[in-house]
Amino acid sequence: MSAVSLWVNRPAGTRAAGWLRTVDHKEIGVLYIGMGIAFFALGGIEALLLRAQLATPQEHLLDPETYDQIFTVHGVTMILLAVVPLIVGFANYLVPLMIGAADVAYPRLNALSFWLSLLGGIVLYFSFVAGGAPDAGWFSYTPLAERPFAPGAGVDYYILGLAVNGAGTIIGAINLTVTILLMRAPGLAISRLPLSPSCSTKSRPFTRRNCIAIQKRLSIYGNVASAILSSLRNSASAMLPVAICAVI
Ligand code: HEM
Repeated sequence: MSAVSLWVNRPAGTRAAGWLRTVDHKEIGVLYIGMGIAFFALGGIEALLLRAQLATPQEHLLDPETYDQIFTVHGVTMILLAVVPLIVGFANYLVPLMIGAADVAYPRLNALSFWLSLLGGIVLYFSFVAGGAPDAGWFSYTPLAERPFAPGAGVDYYILGLAVNGAGTIIGAINLTVTILLMRAPGLAISRLPLSPSCSTKSRPFTRRNCIAIQKRLSIYGNVASAILSSLRNSASAMLPVAICAVI
């Protein structure tokens, strides 16, 4: 019976590429946390710009349009690109350890979730160099977000960025839900799930026997999950071209 290791050890020289193609839940968790910290820093720079503009009356550091763009992107960044990835990162790292699972249910999908989340953020920030960021508030409030009040492509980038980022988040949420429902170590009833990571891996180590039991359960319920995922994929593939056309 061997306990779960807390880290993936890679041979030296393969580490950078390893981060890019990793499907390990702990490494993906760290990637999410890194993404959250990076966007938190960007959101912090935007907050500084906003506060600098507001520091004195009649300040001209930012013109009104840029101010609106900065506070909109600041709000989206802080909530969706910093706080959410930080929470998801800790969940990715800790949940499988807490329930005695070797990894999440769908490790490759987990990597896809992360890269979609990051890509969504990049699309949003790309709007700054593509003619103007969204400026209708982080909720994209109507009627500010409607064409007469937002003639540029900023709101389109907002829609596209959040669609891609949201697809990543939804897939990640399904992955974690399936993991928690189906991959708990035998004997770990859902009512006995640990609320904190402290009581996890030592008391419920991941063993080969547990692994076989989990695989059996996954093969039964996996069809349900893949049906949900394929309907998601279909709706995403229907939505993305519309969003891309809107931007073009
Ligand atoms: C020291 C740190 C921060 C400063 C100085 C700051 C400053 C600001 C300022 C000046 C605004 C715009 C106000 C306006 O003119 O309407 C704003 C909006 C906002 N901030 Fe921050 N902020 C900080 C941290 C955060 C954090 C940590 C979060 C979220 C986790 C956050 C979320 C938001 C949201 C959601 C809005 C509303 C954006 C909108 O109306 O579209 N901020 N912040």
